[in-house]
This record gives sequence, structure tokens and C-alpha cells, in this order.
Amino acid sequence: MKALVSAHSGLRWIVLLALLFSIVVSLINRDSNEISKKQKLIYLAALISSHIQLLIGLILYFLSSKVVFSKETMGNTITRFFTVEHVLGMVLAIALVTIGYSKSKKAKNHKKILLFYTLALVVIFLSIPWPFREALGVANWA
Ligand code: HEM
Ligand code: HEM
Repeated sequence: MKALVSAHSGLRWIVLLALLFSIVVSLINRDSNEISKKQKLIYLAALISSHIQLLIGLILYFLSSKVVFSKETMGNTITRFFTVEHVLGMVLAIALVTIGYSKSKKAKNHKKILLFYTLALVVIFLSIPWPFREALGVANWA
């Protein structure tokens, strides 16, 4: 459980970096009508890392003591965040990544990546329990 939380926490940086890198690459190539092997690999890295994050997150959802279903869930900032806000935000964001990847593959251009990955990055950033959100009680950056 502890190792899984660490993996989930560390993988955040891969997801964020892969999304950021993809957004820069798709911005530069927004007028191109072909996707090179290297570009595809970068977009795929964001897709796969976010899918692995989804899988680990789903497992954590069943194991975590911060996920509870009771009358008190919504009244407590920490249990509300992990039971409701974090999972809804992240599932939406990962769906956006998947839709963006799949649409860009069909359309053979970079504009769908640019749009959907940017939206996803914003939602993910807002849904991460950053240490500066002190009420959530997650102290470490790693
Ligand atoms: C809860 C677990 C997961 C769910 C619900 C899920 C869901 C999906 C969906 C719906 C697609 C279809 C995208 C399309 O329209 O083409 C997809 C594609 C894909 N997923 Fe996942 N996924 C999960 C876990 C994973 C994991 C653990 C990995 C890798 C280790 C992974 C890697 C991929 C890859 C490589 C693709 C295909 C990309 C392509 O079309 O070339 N997924 N996934
Ligand atoms: C891009 C997607 C995601 C990112 C970047 C992310 C990031 C994080 C981070 C940074 C933490 C804090 C870890 C710590 O305490 O050190 C966390 C905790 C957690 N995440 Fe995610 N997450 C993602 C998706 C998901 C999804 C889809 C689910 C559920 C289906 C989920 C479930 C959880 C749970 C239950 C915890 C609390 C674990 C605990 O400390 O008991 N996450 N997540």
C-alpha cells in the first residue's frame, strides 16, 4: 500500500512532464499534417503514463483509508477530496487524454493533442493534492 502510494505520487511527475512536452511539440507542429514516429512516441508516453496512473489510482481507491463512504465523507475535507474530487477530476482528465490521442490519430494532425492535452493538464493540476493545499494533509512532494 505504501509502495503503491509512492509509485502513484512519483508517476505524477512523468504524467505532467509527458503532457507538457506533448503540448509544446503539438504547438510547434500545429500546422503539420503528419505525425512522425518520435512525435507519436511522446504523445503515447502521456497516454500510457496516465493510464497506468488510472490503474494504480483505482487500486488505491479500494485500499486507502482516505476513501470512505459514510455520512461524514462530505463534511471532511480530506475524505471528500479523495473519495470524490480527486477521482472525478482525474478520470475526466484521463478521458480527455485518451480522446485527444485517439482523435489525433484519426485526423493525422496535432491540433487535437494541443486542445485535449492542454485541457487535461489543467484539470490534473487542479486535482493533485499539492502540499500547498494544506487542508489535504499530504506533506511530501515526492
Ligand atoms: C483501468 C485501466 C485502464 C483503462 C480503463 C484503459 C482504457 C483505455 C481505452 C478506453 C483505450 C482506447 C483508446 C482509443 O480509442 O484508441 C485505451 C488505449 C490504450 N491504453 Fe489503456 N486503459 C487502462 C490501463 C492501461 C495500462 C495499465 C496501460 C499500459 C501499461 C495502457 C495503455 C494503453 C495503450 C498503449 C492504448 C492504445 C493506444 C493506441 O491506440 O495506440 N492502458 N485504454
Ligand atoms: C493523472 C492522474 C493522477 C495523478 C497525477 C494523481 C496524483 C496523486 C497524488 C500526488 C497523490 C498523493 C500521494 C501521496 O500521498 O504522496 C494521490 C493520492 C491518491 N490518488 Fe491519485 N492521481 C491520479 C489519478 C487517480 C485516480 C484516477 C484515482 C482513483 C481512481 C486516484 C486515487 C487516489 C487515492 C485513493 C489517493 C490517496 C492514497 C492514500 O494516501 O491513501 N488517483 N494521487
